[in-house]
Amino acid sequence: MIFQEKLMPKYGALLDRLKAFVVASSINLKYFDITPFGLKIAAENIINPLRTDSQPFLSLLQVLDRKAFGSGEAGELTAPKWLFYDCAEFPGGIFGFGFQGKESSLQAKQLMGLDKDYRGLVPISMLITIPMIEPGVWMSHTLSSLSQALPGEGLAGLGALTKTLAIKVFRVRMLYGATQWDNPSVYIHAKFGPLKLVTAYTPAHSLENTFTYCVDINDEVLIRILTDDSPRTSDYSFFLAVDDIAKMKEMQGQIEEHKAEYWIAGPPCRKDNKAFVPIKMTPC
Ligand SMILES: CC(C)(COP(=O)(O)OP(=O)(O)OC[C@H]1O[C@@H](n2cnc3c(N)ncnc32)[C@H](O)[C@@H]1OP(=O)(O)O)[C@@H](O)C(=O)NCCC(=O)NCCS
Repeated sequence: MIFQEKLMPKYGALLDRLKAFVVASSINLKYFDITPFGLKIAAENIINPLRTDSQPFLSLLQVLDRKAFGSGEAGELTAPKWLFYDCAEFPGGIFGFGFQGKESSLQAKQLMGLDKDYRGLVPISMLITIPMIEPGVWMSHTLSSLSQALPGEGLAGLGALTKTLAIKVFRVRMLYGATQWDNPSVYIHAKFGPLKLVTAYTPAHSLENTFTYCVDINDEVLIRILTDDSPRTSDYSFFLAVDDIAKMKEMQGQIEEHKAEYWIAGPPCRKDNKAFVPIKMTPC
């Protein structure tokens, strides 16, 4: 990468071991940056969903999605195959990392249900993004990382690295995203912040404790994350407990009535085993 020597060591170590991949239709690929910050993506890891020989790898992405989200409430968010094609691979793009060749991890192959002799790319992280109508504006549809499901592999930072480089690949200028307040990915999203809230409580989603955010993106933000991602919290007005549905509804009411604007000002803080998100409120 172009600023290899300044990369945070955890990200440098991941880039040394893992191979990047991109899934994009040949119709969209020409608009993407397939050398993000100088990172080389091998030609065989640029996957065109319009080709039948892409199918085995695309099926593995569905396995990755299931393994990352698991069962329980989050399990409701796994995507059926048609949705991967119609809403992600074809109109948008997927960027991620995997083990390949002699660097491959037996633990990862086992988790993904692959034979120990499998030699292909074993995907272990991905960000799926979907373009909105305005050029450069995208919706971050899902982020998956098997970092915590593969203990002992030393994959800390994988989710954040995947999201940061995916944004560069898809030339994102403004990013929307939707996540549950109690989801650990909020720690990652907050690195790009402050995040302006478009919704604070979202009954239109399968999980109503979902918020929708919007954030401007530029290279400066991405380079800062890759070179120094220490937690930053900007000016905030209060902390939202991640299970405080009543407060989420109140904030949503204020947003809908254009009475106030809210931002996530930094990563969640933990107190008595509970997470609280710092929120900046500005009356309209
Ligand atoms: C959420 C998820 C993407 C995190 O991936 P990851 O590779 O573990 O994340 P990273 O290692 O990059 O962690 C980034 C930061 O988040 C923090 N973090 C991650 N998971 C955490 C958790 N469960 N509790 C507290 N902090 C957590 C890390 O400590 C790290 O903080 P730091 O940068 O200050 O050191 C991954 O666990 C996952 O795929 N979960 C299931 C799917 C999901 O819910 N996706 C998000 C929905 S959009």
